[in-house]
This record gives sequence, structure tokens and C-alpha cells, in this order.
Amino acid sequence: MDSIIKNYGERVDKQLQSILPIAEGPAERLLSAMRYSVFNGGKRIRPLLCFAAADAIAESNEATGIVAAAIEMIHAYSLIHDDLPAMDNDDLRRGKATCHIQFDEATAVLAGDALQALAFETLSKLEDIPSQTAIELVQLLSAHSGCAGMAAGQAIDLAATGHSLSLEQLKLMHAHKTGALIEASVLMGAVSTGKATSQQRNALTEFARAIGLAFQIQDDIIDVESSTHQLGKQQGSDIANGKPTYTSLLGLDEARSQVTGLFDKSLNSLDIFGERADPLRYIARFIVNRAY
Ligand code: IPE
Ligand code: IPE
Ligand code: MG
Ligand code: MG
Ligand code: MG
Repeated sequence: MDSIIKNYGERVDKQLQSILPIAEGPAERLLSAMRYSVFNGGKRIRPLLCFAAADAIAESNEATGIVAAAIEMIHAYSLIHDDLPAMDNDDLRRGKATCHIQFDEATAVLAGDALQALAFETLSKLEDIPSQTAIELVQLLSAHSGCAGMAAGQAIDLAATGHSLSLEQLKLMHAHKTGALIEASVLMGAVSTGKATSQQRNALTEFARAIGLAFQIQDDIIDVESSTHQLGKQQGSDIANGKPTYTSLLGLDEARSQVTGLFDKSLNSLDIFGERADPLRYIARFIVNRAY
């Protein structure tokens, strides 16, 4: 299994390198900031889920790699903006200075903007798939990253900072700010094969919702119990910022048990795929066990 996962990672990195080449010229600083935030040691969880979902249906292909790269660019943009002083005001990401510290705030805002535009430009250039499929991919990524998806979740997060939320409200925030892009990753991987049935899509949606929520609860947990060194980001940032989290609302033990319950639920959704979903199962296990 390790070699399958390694292969997914190499394929998305190859696409990202060709989409974001080292460039000189008037926008050199902007391009450097974009590259800095894409090639600085991310776990590439969303691209891995994209490839694994495609392999659960048929076989991941060239289009799957391009789709995975587009999703990772949206993710990188979301982190650059998430770390800005206007949002979480974090200085450390993946063990390095955050984009606005390494460059400057204005460049970081632009790097996020430009990565978002580049993600959609990348999808618009997909070849060898029916144009209807390409449009569906654009719709999935825009719906899950915009004002009904990730950006909505970030807005809920900001509005809730310094306040407490009910469990239902917290779940809604997590489902949007993190779950939405994870759901997009899985569904877009499936759609990239051109072979996903509606039964398969429904099963994958159920899988993604469960593992997406588990992902963000685990992110809340490691903010409390990992070290800054292990995380590559400032430990305790949520508490320092007054963020409502699963650990602040439910405590560590209950948060952990929610992760376990969601992991089991995610695995149950994959039964219809048999062994083809083994890479998805492996990534799900990594998500709930991760310490960084
Ligand atoms: C961090 O995501 C941001 C959240 C949505 C919680 P990841 O933990 O996937 O970040 P990288 O890309 O591996 O650094
Ligand atoms: C970030 O959530 C979610 C998005 C970037 C969309 P967090 O604020 O919890 O992520 P980290 O902990 O800074 O990585
Ligand atoms: Mg945040
Ligand atoms: Mg943050
Ligand atoms: Mg966090």
C-alpha cells in the first residue's frame, strides 16, 4: 500500500511542478510565494483521496492527476489566507514561516487569489474528457470551495471566534471549512474516471462526510496534544485565538471517541467497493491516527 500512496503523491507533484514552473519576470515574487506555499511539505491528503476515490471506481488517469493538483492549489490558497493576521494570525506552517511572514501580507493575499484562479484555469484546460465532465468538475470545486463551502466555513469560524457554539453549530462549521473540500476531492476523483454510478457517488459522499468531519476533529485534538515541532504549526493556536473546537466543547476523550465513531462510519460506507477501496481505507486510517 505504501507504494500506491507514494505513487499518488509523485503524480500530483509532477502536475503541480508543471503548472507552477519557476518563473522570472515582473510577477516573480508572486510566483515565488505561490510555489513556496505549494511545495513546502503538505501531506497532500486531498490529492491522495482524489486518486484513491478514482481507483475505487475504475482507474485513476491523467485527468485525475490534474484534478488533484487543482484541489491542492485551492487548499494551499485556503491555508495562506487562514494564516493571515486578519484570520488566525499564525506565523508557522509546515515547520516554516507562513507565507505572509516569509513574503508580506499583500503578496500573501495575492498568492492565495492567484492560486485559486490557477486551479480553475487548470480544470478548464482538461483534455481527453467530455466537456460536460469538465464542467461538472468546475461546478464541484467552485460549490465546495466558495460561499456554500469552505469560504462559508471560514466565515462561520471567524464569526464564532471568542464565542461558544452548540455541537450542531460546530459540526456545521467543520463540515464547511474542512469537510467541503474533502468531499470535493473524493467526488472529483470519482467523476474524473467518467464511470461513477449514482450509487457509487452516494457511498463516496457518505464516506467523505464522515472522514471530513473526523479530519477536522483530529485537527482540533492535535492542536491540543501534539507539539509545535511535530505539528509544524503553533501548538495551542486554537485556545490562544479563542476558537470553538471539539476539544473545547466536549473535552479530549469525547472528541477522540467521536473520531473513532466517524472512522467506523466512513469504512462502512466503502463496503460496496470491496478491495478496490483499500487505498481509501488506508488514507482514512492515516487521517484519524495522524499527529500532525
Ligand atoms: C490543515 O490541513 C488545514 C485544515 C483544513 C485543518 P492539512 O493538515 O491537510 O494541511 P497540510 O496540507 O498537510 O499542511
Ligand atoms: C483551516 O482550519 C481550514 C481552512 C484552511 C479552510 P484551521 O484554522 O483549524 O487550520 P490550521 O489548524 O490553521 O491548519
Ligand atoms: Mg482557521
Ligand atoms: Mg488556522
Ligand atoms: Mg486547526
